[in-house]
Amino acid sequence: MRWRALLRVDDHLKETTHGAARPAPTEAMEAIEAIYKRRAVKHFDPEHRLTEEEIKTLLQATLQSPTSFNIQHWRFVVVTDPELRQQIRAAGNDQAQITDASLLVVMTADIKAWEKEPNRYWRDAPKQVADLLVNWMAPFHEGKEQLQRDEAMRSIGIAMQTLMIAATGMGYESCPMIGFDHTLVAQLIKLPADHVIGPLVVVGRGTKEAWPKPGQLDLEQVVIQNHF
Ligand SMILES: Cc1cc2nc3c(=O)[nH]c(=O)nc-3n(C[C@H](O)[C@H](O)[C@H](O)COP(=O)(O)O)c2cc1C
Repeated sequence: MRWRALLRVDDHLKETTHGAARPAPTEAMEAIEAIYKRRAVKHFDPEHRLTEEEIKTLLQATLQSPTSFNIQHWRFVVVTDPELRQQIRAAGNDQAQITDASLLVVMTADIKAWEKEPNRYWRDAPKQVADLLVNWMAPFHEGKEQLQRDEAMRSIGIAMQTLMIAATGMGYESCPMIGFDHTLVAQLIKLPADHVIGPLVVVGRGTKEAWPKPGQLDLEQVVIQNHF
């Protein structure tokens, strides 16, 4: 029912908000190229530093990722303290990327963001749309702990990919990492109790190519037509 109301509002807005954002075909090709180019790189130049401006560009691009209800519950912990980085590396199977890459981000999310000033997520939307969605957020999430966690992890995953593709577009390499002691790293970054921790992502200047693609499945193995 709420969706139907939203579609009606959307009809009124089509003229002004839709259409203009469709990329030119060349831009679409660049996106495909970046997707294929991104690899999980393990060796980084420890001397190389991204500029503050570049880090901001990367993080601002990551913020453009979609989230359910535009809740933007990701929280990106940028670790700059060398000692903390060493501690995270020790908790991360001594993976060299953690200290050697220029940027280290611990991907986390606030699973209770839906009840924390939700108006701010629809601040710039037309009032009709904002009212509808803001009032829907609590009944959608309330008492559904699994859903809240699922949403947080979904959003972290999408944001990670945006970050890595943006890095590729800027000529850098990246690596996502889940091989670390989550409890320990959560303690090290002082993760609040109502937040979850996802993977780490590093970005920097790679010094060695990634292994050849380890073995992508054929489309037939993963695409299901209509039903299983
Ligand atoms: C959630 C996630 C966790 C990963 N954890 C690690 C990790 O801890 N260390 C590592 O070297 N690579 C890690 N990888 C990289 C994968 O091994 C890699 O993405 C996969 O082999 C495919 O290679 P490609 O990304 O170069 O295409 C991880 C990837 C993902 C998506």
